[in-house]
Amino acid sequence: MAEQRIVFRGVRIIDPASGRDEITDLAIRGARISALGSDAMTPGAQVVDGVGLVLAPGLVDLHAHLREPGFEHKETVETGTRAAAAGGFTAVAPMANTDPVADNAAVIHEVRDLAVKAGLCDVFPVGAITRGLAGEEMAELGEMVEAGVRMFSDDGHCVPDARVLRNALTYAKAFEDVVLAEHCEDAALAEGGQMHEGLHSYSLGLAGQPREAEEVIVARDLAIARLTGGRLHLCHLSSAGSIEMVRRAKAEGLRVSAEVTPHHLVFTDEDLRTYDTNFKVNPPLRSPEDREALRAALADGTIDAVATDHAPHAVEEKETEFDHAPPGTIGLETALAAILTHLVEPDLLSLSSAIEAMSIRPARILGAGEHGGPIEPGRPANLVVFDPVAEWTVEPPFVSRSRNSAFLGTRLRGRVMYTALRGELVVADGKPQR
Ligand code: NCD
Ligand code: ZN
Repeated sequence: MAEQRIVFRGVRIIDPASGRDEITDLAIRGARISALGSDAMTPGAQVVDGVGLVLAPGLVDLHAHLREPGFEHKETVETGTRAAAAGGFTAVAPMANTDPVADNAAVIHEVRDLAVKAGLCDVFPVGAITRGLAGEEMAELGEMVEAGVRMFSDDGHCVPDARVLRNALTYAKAFEDVVLAEHCEDAALAEGGQMHEGLHSYSLGLAGQPREAEEVIVARDLAIARLTGGRLHLCHLSSAGSIEMVRRAKAEGLRVSAEVTPHHLVFTDEDLRTYDTNFKVNPPLRSPEDREALRAALADGTIDAVATDHAPHAVEEKETEFDHAPPGTIGLETALAAILTHLVEPDLLSLSSAIEAMSIRPARILGAGEHGGPIEPGRPANLVVFDPVAEWTVEPPFVSRSRNSAFLGTRLRGRVMYTALRGELVVADGKPQR
């Protein structure tokens, strides 16, 4: 078969990795970018009209739940990576809270093989830090590193025992590019909490979970990062106090990075007044002051990355009393548009910083060298092309198997038109092609 050739014509290329922001042509040949600029036009190529569109390095998600193995009624690796591709992602890191837990090389291989077979988006499976996510004994980190794992997390919980975390961070230090990602939540302080503890939880009559449930673990973990010199990543931060601690830790030179979700950047505890279980998420949506702090921290780089925490749940699981509904919102299909609409459009974040936070920095944290740019001839063609002004309403059908979106019914601006994975258009004209 002849190598495929595609040319994006007259497209605005934004590549913060090389500082490029210009309207030009880009050619793909086979799996790679072959040319940029006026010499990009190749006879016999499929020409895509890029006028009005933005082309950037494919998005990279540090935090998604693809649910396979074990919870295929919520999502599978295939449906989840299809949702990722539809959202402009070319790489995604699925969390280890599957059944069986991804705490050994066999499950890691299984998840990666399923993704390769689907061919929609690269996956970088996250390995569990502790066996069975039980928080007691360290999992087979070495075996999983050998299987290619670069990020470990017990997401869903923090590592409750500080000594276990100390040992894991120390052990992980032996591997140059391995990072431990913590879901910062003190189990005792959070117990029973349905939402952020504050005025709204009192008036809604829902049990609250204070921001201190997150902050005490952030404080503890930063102390252990200092003690060990290990590399620590903090998942889905939600509180202004956590941000202050990360800011100080970075100034001090600790090896720490942090992420925030689109839903924590957009919504607050006030949105729970309808008792809509799609707003029940972990950590809970907090106050407007916390949201302001998260937005400012993303803009000034204290928070490195936007991560979706895509957490699909079946309709019957979410359509129940608030107290019984599992926490989580899907997010892969709305992440880019949510950031464009709620941060870039009101000038809280530049377009190029948004791409840094959604592609370049998460690729670096994950060690995903084929992703996150730079956009240059010879580089793998892992790219997203989006219409920055197209408006749409978030509504079913979703590409994801689940529909529990906190953004349901809202209008967003920004629509993914093409996603190229190693040169193949897995999304074209806004639709998945596989
Ligand atoms: C996550 C899930 O559903 O797996 N849910 C969520 O609200 N973030 C697990 C978790 O981190 O609590
Ligand atoms: Zn989590």
